[in-house]
Amino acid sequence: MKPTLSIRNLHVAVGGTPILRGVDLTIRYGETHALMGPNGSGKSTLGLAVMGHPNYEVSEGTIDLDGQNILEMTPDERARVGLFYAFQRPVAIPGVKMADFLRHATTNVRNPQRQEGEELIPMRVFREELRTKMEQLKMDAQFARRYVNDGFSGGEMKRAEILQLAMLQPKFAILDETDSGLDADAVRLASQSIAEIGREKMGLLIITHHDKLLEHNPPDFTHVMLGGRIVESGSAELAEELHRYGYERIRRAYPEADAQNRVMAHEEVA
Ligand SMILES: Nc1ncnc2c1ncn2[C@@H]1O[C@H](COP(=O)(O)OP(=O)(O)OP(=O)(O)O)[C@@H](O)[C@H]1O
Ligand SMILES: [Mg+2]
Repeated sequence: MKPTLSIRNLHVAVGGTPILRGVDLTIRYGETHALMGPNGSGKSTLGLAVMGHPNYEVSEGTIDLDGQNILEMTPDERARVGLFYAFQRPVAIPGVKMADFLRHATTNVRNPQRQEGEELIPMRVFREELRTKMEQLKMDAQFARRYVNDGFSGGEMKRAEILQLAMLQPKFAILDETDSGLDADAVRLASQSIAEIGREKMGLLIITHHDKLLEHNPPDFTHVMLGGRIVESGSAELAEELHRYGYERIRRAYPEADAQNRVMAHEEVA
């Protein structure tokens, strides 16, 4: 059976405020899923909760990877079993060079039993691999010598996330608006790169407000989040509909979730 990431009836609160209210989502290895939904509907919350961010409290429900409950795992343990989350807003780590960060992370993911202090991937092997991947992504070699996200432009941060994806080769990846802030050429390259990294060699959840990232990664399934729930799922056509017409139809069809979303997103009730 294909590896499966299975999210059941997930309820998540932040600082005591309920955000996700019963999310069900199953992603199988090799599948591409698009996750859409208006601002503040809970998309990033889902990604952060799956990765185990400590501020996101799971009050109900389960997340399993291949039948194994991951909820008790720390974020690094989740990464070691094959999960990856590309941040909507990546954080800077001044003092830590991209190359060192990637060498440690890559070693730990490939050798999940590794303890701190044990050997890393040999420098020569790692450098060669990093160089190849950076060339593929048309990234300047200098980039790896900079501190992680420190002073990076919006676009550079997003490309750094894609480089991590390429190096870590996770089983399941959640890309949270990896297209935001990229210029037209960069977003096309990002879309191609994700396809080349091999979406058929992972399960992919692409969170996006645009259609460009999906160009080379047509979703097998599209999900719409509203008010902390997935209210509708469909094919790639659903993504196309939403890109063209927006969320008007969805909001009308699910008035309760719509009202909830307006409260969450601090929007005035229409
Ligand atoms: N750490 C936090 N502290 C306070 N509120 C939070 C926190 N994280 C999320 N929320 C709230 O949860 C709701 C959902 O936020 P989330 O970031 O998941 O939305 P989103 O669907 O990713 O939106 P966008 O499309 O704008 O990125 C929002 O009302 C947000 O303010
Ligand atoms: Mg978000």
